[in-house]
Amino acid sequence: MRAFSFITQNPGKVAELQAKAHEFGLEIVHVNASYPELQADTLEEVVRHGLSYCKEKFPPLFIIEDSGLFIDDLHGFPGPYSSYVNKTIGNSGVVKLIGEGRPARFESAIGSYCRDFKLFHGRVEGRIVSSRGHRGFGFDPIFEYEGRTFAEMTVAEKNALSHRSKAAELFLEWASTII
Ligand code: IMP
Repeated sequence: MRAFSFITQNPGKVAELQAKAHEFGLEIVHVNASYPELQADTLEEVVRHGLSYCKEKFPPLFIIEDSGLFIDDLHGFPGPYSSYVNKTIGNSGVVKLIGEGRPARFESAIGSYCRDFKLFHGRVEGRIVSSRGHRGFGFDPIFEYEGRTFAEMTVAEKNALSHRSKAAELFLEWASTII
């Protein structure tokens, strides 16, 4: 099976990408390792910094991924600072801060290293609601897309429309041509 590595400490992301990779006849090897996450204003900067670090430590072909929740009323905050917001105020804090029904989007940037760096992007628009559902991870229970939160969806359902799956499809189409 043609394979590539995914360097992440988030098993939820691995499950999502594994399902997507199988659709393309590709296999993901999960490398459960961390790398320094730059505090920067864009996902792209975070990913490029991570790629530079990982390039010295891991053989190609590998990917890393950075994602975030961008809330319109907060001019895109927390965006690249989503991890910090998730750890500090959590889902209930986000709902309390901006209120139910407010528009938001998830964005994902996948960075790959083979001979050089390549970046792939995806996004999905939805709205913030009170926590519903028990699947997924992170902000999934408070992100609603067409009447259901991401935490109310199966991996396959989330994968049909999520920010990460859109970025993954672009990466997998490209990866299929080189491995
Ligand atoms: P990171 O990409 O791992 O740095 O994620 C940033 C923050 O956004 C973390 O708190 C994640 O749990 C959250 N996050 C990223 N992607 C998703 C998603 O698909 N669903 C829910 N939360 C997410």
